[in-house]
Amino acid sequence: MATVPTVAPERAPAPDTVPTQADMSAAIARRHRELAALGDSAPATAVDFAPYRSSLLRHPTKNPRLADPEAVELHSPAFGEHDVAGVEADLTAHHTGEPQGERMTVTGTLMDGRGRPLRSQLVEVWQANASGRYVHQRDRHAAPLDPHFTGAGRIITDDQGRYSFTTIKPGAYPWRNHANAWRPAHIHFSVFGRAFLQRLVTQMYFPGDPMFPLDPIYNSIHRQADRDRLVAAYDHDANVPEFSIAYRFDIVVDGPDATWFERDGEPA
Ligand SMILES: [Fe+2]
Repeated sequence: MATVPTVAPERAPAPDTVPTQADMSAAIARRHRELAALGDSAPATAVDFAPYRSSLLRHPTKNPRLADPEAVELHSPAFGEHDVAGVEADLTAHHTGEPQGERMTVTGTLMDGRGRPLRSQLVEVWQANASGRYVHQRDRHAAPLDPHFTGAGRIITDDQGRYSFTTIKPGAYPWRNHANAWRPAHIHFSVFGRAFLQRLVTQMYFPGDPMFPLDPIYNSIHRQADRDRLVAAYDHDANVPEFSIAYRFDIVVDGPDATWFERDGEPA
């Protein structure tokens, strides 16, 4: 067992119980083999994925209950098409100066399982800054906050189901899942739908990240094809010349090619 760095906001047990990366990688491989052996009967989402340790305390252990959608809508968050300002799609423009980091434009299409675009949908994003630090009281990562970057934005999809936002590339950050644990760089996404009960949450990653094989959250999705759908594509033709580089991240909300979404209580 290794010494635990005192850096991340995640909850963790005492240091002498924290496994090493080698322990964790072995556990990931073992669980993937178990799920692969189940074939088509394997759950799409391994919510009780032991290597992602805090998920064991947060995943549902009882059957879901039916909720009355109309009753829920009376007290749940709601939005109108005019509630989202255009500036919310530019995460680099929320303060008086430019944030540090690699400026980028992220575009994509939100669609259903038949490839039909989903228009007028609320897409929310949140992310760490270029140093891998969140503006959050629990984030004690010893990396600098950026006075010009908060890291949250909102966009409404257009009539073709497209969204686009400007931001900076987030940095990787450490967390206390195990010794020397680091999250691959990622952006959190929420797709709201037309009602709060339809809300879906996932993460977008960047191509070629060397931390993919090591990360228990990324690997809680046990099928490679599902993991691949969470990796954005570098989109050279969409670069904004002299301004930003572009990534494309299409989101499919249902069907066999659906983007993998987190279930209740999934990650920070
Ligand atoms: Fe995160």
